[in-house]
Amino acid sequence: MHDSYLDNAATSFPKPESVYAAMDGFIRKIGASPARGSYPRAQESERCLVRGRSKLAQLLGIANPSRLIFTSNATDAINIALKGFLQTGDHVITTSAEHNAVLRPLWAMQTSRGITLSIVPTNALGEINLDALFQQVTPKTRLVCCTHASNVLGTLQPVDEIARRCRALGIACLVDGSQSVGVIPVDVEHLGVDFFAFTGHKSLLGPTGTGGLYVRDGIDIATFREGGSGSHSEDLNQPTVWPERHESGTPNMMGLVGLFAGVDFLLEKGVSTIQQHERELTHQLMEGFRRIPGITLYGPDVEKKVGITSIGFSAMSTAEMGQILGKKFGIMIRTGIHCAPLIHQQIGTVGQGTLRFSVGYSTTQNDITAAIQSVQDIASAVYRRQPAVSL
Ligand SMILES: Cc1ncc(COP(=O)(O)O)c(C=O)c1O
Repeated sequence: MHDSYLDNAATSFPKPESVYAAMDGFIRKIGASPARGSYPRAQESERCLVRGRSKLAQLLGIANPSRLIFTSNATDAINIALKGFLQTGDHVITTSAEHNAVLRPLWAMQTSRGITLSIVPTNALGEINLDALFQQVTPKTRLVCCTHASNVLGTLQPVDEIARRCRALGIACLVDGSQSVGVIPVDVEHLGVDFFAFTGHKSLLGPTGTGGLYVRDGIDIATFREGGSGSHSEDLNQPTVWPERHESGTPNMMGLVGLFAGVDFLLEKGVSTIQQHERELTHQLMEGFRRIPGITLYGPDVEKKVGITSIGFSAMSTAEMGQILGKKFGIMIRTGIHCAPLIHQQIGTVGQGTLRFSVGYSTTQNDITAAIQSVQDIASAVYRRQPAVSL
């Protein structure tokens, strides 16, 4: 059986060899806390952190690396931004394409912080209508939160245009880049956003437990936590200097070193090359699925999305189909709601969710052929009422 990992939107696998090697090398040979010691290994640890932050800033088009703070994932980054920025009485606009990493903090902050919230539905392809979004603006609107690419349909949103219109109205703009960084070229400052949150373990090819938040120069946020920063230790006040102000506690150095190796890999290979590779495979996957009777394909064409393809099969539950694909065919995908509950109202998949296939830099032609063939085999067997596809 050919094993095909097509769940890269959940987390990328495998990581480049250099990621494993960097993490192993760091924990064995350096293993010291950065900025907290004067011996050579501690200094090397600090150098790794500074170098890595600069490389990530380079990849994301951030001129001042100190505006990039490390977090444990995108959820952490989004919470830090929302809870550090929003105040009682603020109105926030977001969309039905969001992940729960955005929706749940905002939902909770209606009661915990006294914010008000408008959620603008997308169309059936997951696209946001900008006029509908900006019609929700009130004198109290302080923030628009929007995903860069939907984790259910892959749909790319025009975040540059959203940021431009926000700026003209004096409203801040937070983009969740969890599904865009590393798979499409992203220049955060060119996009003109105020906050950009991302996770390290998906297409940035790092390990779990890594992520980051960019905050535009000139925007201040309250600290999410206070504590040791390795600097200004004589002062009981939290340092004002970035990034230390927002990075209290010993960082996840082993994870970050893996993330930096992932970034090196992307800089060397080129994100556009990876995007092209993923587009070709996604196109083939979609064409293959289109030819299978009983399969519904959701979302826009390949040019308007990242390498995520959601399908439905009315003759079987998504959970059962996912299990058969995994156990009998070695096709590893994600099924269900994908932590993004509202978009399913737009595509008619409330309850069941979708079967989500997501490619990565290491996905091969064989993986795609195997996925199409497996779905074809299951569909044919179901229509012929063959028991061969039961678990
Ligand atoms: C669009 C989007 N936002 C946020 C997240 C949350 O990422 P993490 O679990 O790494 O915090 C995900 C992960 O699935 C996602 O796809």
